[in-house]
Amino acid sequence: MWGGRFAGGPSAIMREINASIPFDKVLWRQDIAASKAHAAMLAAQGIVSADDAAAISSGLDAIAAEYAAHGVPENWDLEDIHMVTESRLAELIGAAAGRLHTARSRNDQVATDFKLWVREACLSADAALGGLQVALVTRAGEHAGSIMPGFTHLQTAQPVTLGHHLMAYYEMLGRDRSRFVDAHSRASQCPLGAAALAGTGFPIDRKATAQALGFAMPTRNSLDSVSDRDFALDYLTAAAQCALHLSRLAEELILWASQPFGFITLPDSLSTGSSIMPQKKNPDAAELVRGHSGRIIGALTSLMVTMKGLPLAYSKDMQDDKVPVFEAAGLLELCLAAMTGMIDGATFRTGRMRAAAELGYATATDLADWLVRAANVPFREAHHITGTAVKLAESRGCALDALTLDDLQAIDARIDNRVFAALSVESSVAARASYGGTAPEQVSARVAEARVALGLE
Ligand code: ARG
Repeated sequence: MWGGRFAGGPSAIMREINASIPFDKVLWRQDIAASKAHAAMLAAQGIVSADDAAAISSGLDAIAAEYAAHGVPENWDLEDIHMVTESRLAELIGAAAGRLHTARSRNDQVATDFKLWVREACLSADAALGGLQVALVTRAGEHAGSIMPGFTHLQTAQPVTLGHHLMAYYEMLGRDRSRFVDAHSRASQCPLGAAALAGTGFPIDRKATAQALGFAMPTRNSLDSVSDRDFALDYLTAAAQCALHLSRLAEELILWASQPFGFITLPDSLSTGSSIMPQKKNPDAAELVRGHSGRIIGALTSLMVTMKGLPLAYSKDMQDDKVPVFEAAGLLELCLAAMTGMIDGATFRTGRMRAAAELGYATATDLADWLVRAANVPFREAHHITGTAVKLAESRGCALDALTLDDLQAIDARIDNRVFAALSVESSVAARASYGGTAPEQVSARVAEARVALGLE
């Protein structure tokens, strides 16, 4: 395709280091769509004849059928998906194939194909995230009133509800979705027609090709068009942050499935056994979600480092943009599917959770709040009185509400019998009815809103 200027062919090493067809063949659908849009525009503008454009278009359709049926042939001599397809077109339709590359370069071609692919990946990530949100909201609705310990520093802090905990992830994933939607809309300008770097002397219609390919408009600067990979970085940034969230949820499932916690039983279908310890049921899917998040975050780092030293416009380093994006997209899709399956299929051991919420003086804040409300004690003093009560309960090895009224009144005479109603875990969660708080009524209200937002109601 470019041999005219060369006395000899490339060495075996040059062929190998140069070939991107092993991975960029993934772009074949986008490459054919962009070529068809380009050919139709060339004909509409009178740059190629209608007959040649028709031959190109039906030749490209035939190639698409071949690729769909048999895969894309990996010919390293032809380097990449663009040249593999163009060379096959020449075999099929002869000389007219040579007119397709008029007013275009592989530089704007690859930018266009890759951007189209990334736009689709943004939409599928958004859809898969929606599926995981549905699973979370469904389980949260079932457990709006199930009590578990809430943690800070992984130390028992205050009782919360399981539904509230699950809805925290619903919120995180909602932010992830907005990042993918944002990445999709920011990638709405079409680079096709920027040619190698400077634009073209042919009277092309860039608005027509942009529109034919589903973009909102053409890019405005030809140098930027062929050198920009922000759309891929935007996608990877959203993917990395999403993977980070999935990893945190995975970490909680792993902890909860451990025997000392015993909060959850993961579905057999998403667990594995041990070849030596017959009793083991391991949360491998969750561990791999946690592990894969490292690779997805690594993909973002990889592309940022690839891009950061490149002068305008195109450099061949940019051929290395695709592997991290394709890898991250595949891993993300898998992680989202595994996580959705785990949330759907988990058995929540609410008795264990409730019992754990009784431990660790989780209602100490409720005693302090009661002193403020019922006995008009300033909060700092109430905090100190409660600390003394916790110390006494700890020395006796009993719960706060197992102390007698005499015990409590010896610490502070303003305490009376009504305090015991405030010290149960049920009244503790019910009391936290501020907007966005853990009270079951609040959780149910958020779940109801989420179900409407997800189109479930
Ligand atoms: N395979 C190349 C890539 O993925 C296509 C662009 C090649 N352009 C060039 N001038 N060598 O980046």
